[in-house]
Amino acid sequence: MKTIIEPFKIKSVEPIRFTTKEEREKLLKAAGYNPFLLHADDVLIDLLTDSGTSAMSSEQWAGIMRGDESYAGSKSFYNFEDAVRRITGMRFIIPTHQGRAAEKILFSITGGPGKYFPNNTHFDTTRANIEFTGSEAVDLLNETGKHPEIRADFKGNMDIEKLESFIKEKGKENIPLCMITITNNSGGGQPVSMQNIRDVKKLLERYNIPLFIDACRFAENAYFIKKREKGYSGKSALEIAWEIFSYADGVTMSAKKDGLANIGGFLAMNDENLAMQCRNLLIVTEGFPTYGGLAGRDLEAVAQGLSEILDEHYLQYRIRSVEYLGEKLISAGVPIIEPPGGHAIYLDAKRFLPHIPPEQFPGQSIVCSLYIEGGIRGVEIGSLMFGKYDKSGRLIPPAMELVRLAIPRRVYTQSHIDFVSEVVIEVFKKRDSLKGYKITYEAPMLRHFTARFDSL
Ligand SMILES: Cc1ncc(COP(=O)(O)O)c(C=O)c1O
Repeated sequence: MKTIIEPFKIKSVEPIRFTTKEEREKLLKAAGYNPFLLHADDVLIDLLTDSGTSAMSSEQWAGIMRGDESYAGSKSFYNFEDAVRRITGMRFIIPTHQGRAAEKILFSITGGPGKYFPNNTHFDTTRANIEFTGSEAVDLLNETGKHPEIRADFKGNMDIEKLESFIKEKGKENIPLCMITITNNSGGGQPVSMQNIRDVKKLLERYNIPLFIDACRFAENAYFIKKREKGYSGKSALEIAWEIFSYADGVTMSAKKDGLANIGGFLAMNDENLAMQCRNLLIVTEGFPTYGGLAGRDLEAVAQGLSEILDEHYLQYRIRSVEYLGEKLISAGVPIIEPPGGHAIYLDAKRFLPHIPPEQFPGQSIVCSLYIEGGIRGVEIGSLMFGKYDKSGRLIPPAMELVRLAIPRRVYTQSHIDFVSEVVIEVFKKRDSLKGYKITYEAPMLRHFTARFDSL
C-alpha cells in the first residue's frame, strides 16, 4: 500500500475553536502583532512549536497514574534513568524540568568569560544560556546548510574544517566542550550524518575537547540516517541512536520533543566529577537529583515516551507527514528549506517576500498573515529571533530569514495538514501586498517571545 497511515487510533479529542478573519485581525493587533502573545484558544492550528505539544499515549497516561511522588529515590526516577540509559548509554543521568534547565546547569559550570562553545547551530536557549555566563556561542554549520534552496541529505552537518581552524585560533583550553544539535532546529530541522558525528568526535579527541549532543530530536535524526546514509538501512533506529551516543561524552535533552512528553528533560554525561558538580547545582536550582524539577508522574511519561519514539512505524509516519506538507508547498512554488526537515517546514521568507528587508522582519510579516488568513500560528526564525545590533544600532541579520511551521507529534491529522497547505498557498498568492513590521517594545534577551510591533 502506498498510503502511510497514522500509526494510532484516537481515544480522546480536544475541540478547536473557529474564529472569523475580522476577529483574528483584532486579536492579533491586541497581541502587538506577536502570535506568542495570543491566547492559544484563539488559534485554530497551532504550529508554534513541536515542544511539549505531543499527544501522549494511553501508556503514558497510565504512567502518570503510576508516578511515585517520593521526594528521594522514587521508583519513577529509576524507570526514567533506565529509559535514558537504554538509549544513550550515559553513566550519569540528571533529570531537569526541561532542556534549558539542563543547559543552564551545564554552562553555569563549564562557561564563563573568555570561553567558546562551538555547535552546528545553537538553539536560541542554548545560545542565551552560554552568553549569560559571558562565554561566546559559535555556529559552525557547513555551507550547504545555509542555502535553503539546495537539496542535500545532511544539511545539519558541522563544518569540520572550520571547527579545526576555530580550535587552533581560540585554543583548546578555551573550549570547554563542543556541541552538535540533532536535528538542527534553527537550521531547518536538518539531520546530521553519522559520518559527521564520527568525524567531529575524532577531531575533538585530538584536542581533548568533550562532545555533547543536544538530543532533542535524536530519534528523527536516527531515522534520517537509516533512510539516507550508506550502511544504515538494515539497522534499527535504536541501534543507530546507540552509535550516535557512543561518540558523545554528554547529552542535553528537552524531552518535550522526542521524549513525547509535555514537560521534562535531562542532562547526562560520563564524567563523574562534572556530574557531581551538576548535581550540586541541580539541588539549588531544580531539586533533588532523583526528580530534578519534575513530578514522579512526569518522569514516568518521559520514560514511556522514550520507549515509544524509536518505533519505526511512528518514525516513518512522522517524517513522511512533514515531507507531505513540504511537497504540497513546493509544488505550488512556495519557497521552503529543502528538503523538508524532521519536525517542521521552514518557509524561506527572503524568497517569499523579497520586497521586505530584514530590518522590517519579513518572517514576522508571514507569521501574522498566516494567522489572519487561517488562524495558523507559526514562528519567525530570522532577524527577530537572531538579529543583533551593531554599535551604530544597525541590525545585523542572520544568514536566513525563516518561518517555522512545527508539527506537534501525533496531534494533527492529514486533513489538518491539507488545510495548512491551503492557507500558506493563499498567503503566498497575496505576497506582493504583505507589509513589514517595526518593533515598538523588545526585551534585552530572547526578544521574540515578548516583542510588540506596529505594521508599516
Ligand atoms: C535544539 C533545541 N535545544 C534546546 C531546546 C530547549 O528545550 P526546552 O524548550 O525544553 O527548554 C530546544 C527547544 O525547542 C531545542 O529545539
